[in-house]
Amino acid sequence: MLKTHNCGELRATYAGHTVLLAGWVNRWRDHGGVVFLDLRDRSGVVQITANPDGAPEAHAAMQQARGEYVLQIAGVVRTRPEGLTNPDLPTGAIEVVAHQVKILNPAKTPPFYIYDDKPVDEALRLKYRYLDLRRGRMQRNIILRHRVVKYIRDYLDERGFVEIETPILFKTTPEGARDYLVPSRVHPGKFYALPQSPQQLKQLLMVAGYERYFQIARCFRDEDQRGDRQPEFTQLDLEMSFVEQGDVMALTEEMMIGLVETCSDRELLTKPFPRLTYQEAMTRFGTDRPDLRFGMELVDVSDLAAACGFGIFTKTVAGGGQVKGIRAPGGSTYSRREIDELTALVQQSGAKGLAWLALGQEGKMRSSFAKFLTEDEVAGIVERMEAELGDLLLFVADQPKIVNIALSELRLELGERMGLRDRSVLALCWVVEFPLFEWDEEGRRWDPSHHLFTSPMPEDMPLLETNPGAARGQQHDLVCNGEEIAGGSIRIHQRQVQEKVFELIGLDAEVAQERFGHMLEAFEYGTPPHGGIAPGIDRLVMLLAGEPNIREVIAFPKTQQAADLMAGAPSPVEPEQLKELHIRVVDGDR
Ligand code: AMO
Ligand code: AMP
Repeated sequence: MLKTHNCGELRATYAGHTVLLAGWVNRWRDHGGVVFLDLRDRSGVVQITANPDGAPEAHAAMQQARGEYVLQIAGVVRTRPEGLTNPDLPTGAIEVVAHQVKILNPAKTPPFYIYDDKPVDEALRLKYRYLDLRRGRMQRNIILRHRVVKYIRDYLDERGFVEIETPILFKTTPEGARDYLVPSRVHPGKFYALPQSPQQLKQLLMVAGYERYFQIARCFRDEDQRGDRQPEFTQLDLEMSFVEQGDVMALTEEMMIGLVETCSDRELLTKPFPRLTYQEAMTRFGTDRPDLRFGMELVDVSDLAAACGFGIFTKTVAGGGQVKGIRAPGGSTYSRREIDELTALVQQSGAKGLAWLALGQEGKMRSSFAKFLTEDEVAGIVERMEAELGDLLLFVADQPKIVNIALSELRLELGERMGLRDRSVLALCWVVEFPLFEWDEEGRRWDPSHHLFTSPMPEDMPLLETNPGAARGQQHDLVCNGEEIAGGSIRIHQRQVQEKVFELIGLDAEVAQERFGHMLEAFEYGTPPHGGIAPGIDRLVMLLAGEPNIREVIAFPKTQQAADLMAGAPSPVEPEQLKELHIRVVDGDR
């Protein structure tokens, strides 16, 4: 080894020891002819100095060195004199007096500082990701990610799970996104699809009798990117045989609690995790991934609105719509400009407007619609909203879908403005009893709301024939701070049920056979009842690290445009390669 110790491990107890260190120059300063530098390796930093008289060559080499130079240093640890210690640094009680300094490699001045975590333009960080990864923030995140995955592996291994790899070159496994396709050279005109998840393969491993499987699985989805999405991401994919839904949830919950408590300093708001039905989540929060760090639940005032004098309210309810409101405690001081901003926000979700009512502290009311209401009607709404002096009440009238989307976004924005979305707290909850299907108006067919392998709830099985829209699936989603961090279900394990679902979603028998024939066939060879779940590792680590997006916890992420700025991917390929693949590019720039 080119080193005997790590920089960050040295303490006063090492005083007098000779050490060999290697690392990067973190910071460099010249104090009237005497050079001090901080040497950094993964473990931390330590101060190095040299005596110009005692070790002139070492001192001269230190004078040459600059930020990010790679040095090897032989020296002796000594305690710093009284008054020169640095209590903020773990190694702040000591320094290393170098007698030999070797420059292993010089470095250009980096495009941003490595030694602090000050904000840097993200495009620059991604272009020089190897330098960005040297910085403290990224290093902490990447090491946290390692610890999370290690915890998961140990936890599952102790409980009899077997880690099994499944292919990346496979056939479409639809999870609701577009596939990434890989052309085959050997089979002209044919394509592999990169898996959107290992869903089919893990089910086939249950048919194969492995009973408990997991994999730290890479998944690929070509979909619109957002802060919490990447085109390739990692799931902890797991599947179990001979289980009921509660078994999968209990195991996942125990693992998650252990993970949070072992690997992070985040506070778990509630355990056991609350369980909400889909209906309840939609009614109370307007979304199936509620942020439970704060209240401000939605309140239905449709009945009061129907009978009041405000035309927009009465007409909406008469037309089958809904009026729901939200109470912002202390919000009565919001200015017109702030309310206009909130109005613009709900309009982005398709709402036509935002009706508001501010109950001033001094008893003075301001409102965009109260003038159309009698005093009693206003009082009725105020009472239903459980409002107090100083509150701001906000209402949206529309079809339920729009009301829910608009108010759930508004709720998050209000929570943000009021400082209630504290990243040091993790509020996890389960959402269950999802509708099995959503009606696709354009395609005039049912779409699976999770994926097409999710089993209906046993009591809803007959609804597949009579009223598919009312059938609930045995789906379980785990939500944390308003993010979906895991999704799973009990699966269909009988051929007839699977065929019925294919039929409802408009897959004709021939296409179903072509795409999923292997699944249908497998179901005929003794398939155990089975189910599983897949937590998104990136989102999980993001929440544990308190980061605002998943790019901060992925070593080499892609941009929102699905590009790698460092290597420049995707990129054009040689015409020869295209020819071999039997591919002709018809438009684009080549
Ligand atoms: P689902 O599609 O719900 O389920 O995905 C499971 C979890 O994966 C994470 N996730 C993502 N993370 C980052 N970027 C993305 N583009 C992305 N898409 C999904 C989320 C999500 O909760 N096969 C099923 C699982 C099962 O039924 O067992 C599946 O993939 O955290
Ligand atoms: P107007 O009569 O158009 O000036 O609207 C009166 C108030 O009702 C304004 O605050 C509008 O933003 C609000 N408003 C308009 N349409 C809706 C709606 N569908 N739901 C809630 N508020 C609305």
